[in-house]
Amino acid sequence: MNATIRSAGAYLPPKRVSNQDLAQIIDTSDEWIRSHTGIGSRHLAESETTSEMATEAAREALSRCGISAEELDMIIVATSTPDYIGFPATASIVQNNIGALRSGAFDLAAACTGFVYAMECGRGLISSGVARNVLVIGAEKLSSLVNWKDRSTCVLFGDGAGAVVLSACDDDRGFLASRMRSDGSGADALIVRAGGIKNPIRGQNIPEEDLYIAMDGRRVYNFAVQVNTELFEVLPAEAGISIDEIKYIVPHQANVRIIKAAAKRAGIPMEKFYLNIEEYANTSAASIPIALNDLWKDGRLNPGDVIMTLGFGSGLTYGGQLIRL
Ligand code: ACO
Repeated sequence: MNATIRSAGAYLPPKRVSNQDLAQIIDTSDEWIRSHTGIGSRHLAESETTSEMATEAAREALSRCGISAEELDMIIVATSTPDYIGFPATASIVQNNIGALRSGAFDLAAACTGFVYAMECGRGLISSGVARNVLVIGAEKLSSLVNWKDRSTCVLFGDGAGAVVLSACDDDRGFLASRMRSDGSGADALIVRAGGIKNPIRGQNIPEEDLYIAMDGRRVYNFAVQVNTELFEVLPAEAGISIDEIKYIVPHQANVRIIKAAAKRAGIPMEKFYLNIEEYANTSAASIPIALNDLWKDGRLNPGDVIMTLGFGSGLTYGGQLIRL
């Protein structure tokens, strides 16, 4: 038994902050941000929590494919910004919100690669016969982890959630190729140093910057270009298809320059890629499902189309899939 994507949904907070808006509060400019990242604006949560955004994305994905919450066997939320630290999982809050009465629920942390990993878990549950319908969500409230005084990181991120419904299929649709990898030697390249068990906030004099995302931008850039180039080679080879047969490559929306550099190395035209980073910035685990929702709601994906997902991020983790819809 294989699994394929039945529908997608998303939630983006209504509050939109442009580069010009940011230039009012920090020393930056629209020109710098666009030329270095491709970002023009980001949507930032106000009162919305990660579970609330995930719930809205889930409701939209379910309503689009006509599967009821009671038919779900598992809910997986990929996030690095859960409502609570582990107790309870954000997925359990979503499960209760949508009334998925017979579903299991768990969170998955693999940073910006989280959605790709979560899809693979969903596919595995379906392939093994444990589940028929799995809701896979990527949801992030990164604005809570961003140091708004650090111009080198705060301009990069946005908030939001995306969701897909994965269902069993026994025809030629489904996952054609997959790869999931990690290079933990790069764990300090993209890190929030305090707030976990190793450096708890309670009872310590924590430097303020340790509460927020710290990034070695150049190192992350080099890693991302290298692993994307690798995925462009290995995934089509494993599936026995050519890049031409892929309708859209849907990468994690981290930075247009990363995608352009990897595409150039692999000789792939930029038209193959679906990019929405200009509007939404980098929403980490939410970025791929938000992009899938854009394509879904615009009717740009049809049964039989092949898409490629590409995830990369803190860990350093990476992974991708080829999926026939
Ligand atoms: N506005 C204006 N100037 C800035 C800003 C800003 N927002 N941020 C940094 N600068 C300045 C720096 O202070 C520096 O000035 P200096 O030369 O006077 O010291 C100059 O711009 C160049 O800074 P660099 O950090 O060297 O800029 P770089 O060209 O490397 O671009 C960037 C930075 C865009 C982050 C790049 O390293 C990159 O693309 N990294 C990939 C990482 C990434 O995209 N991360 C996203 C999250 S991770 C993920 O999702 C996988």
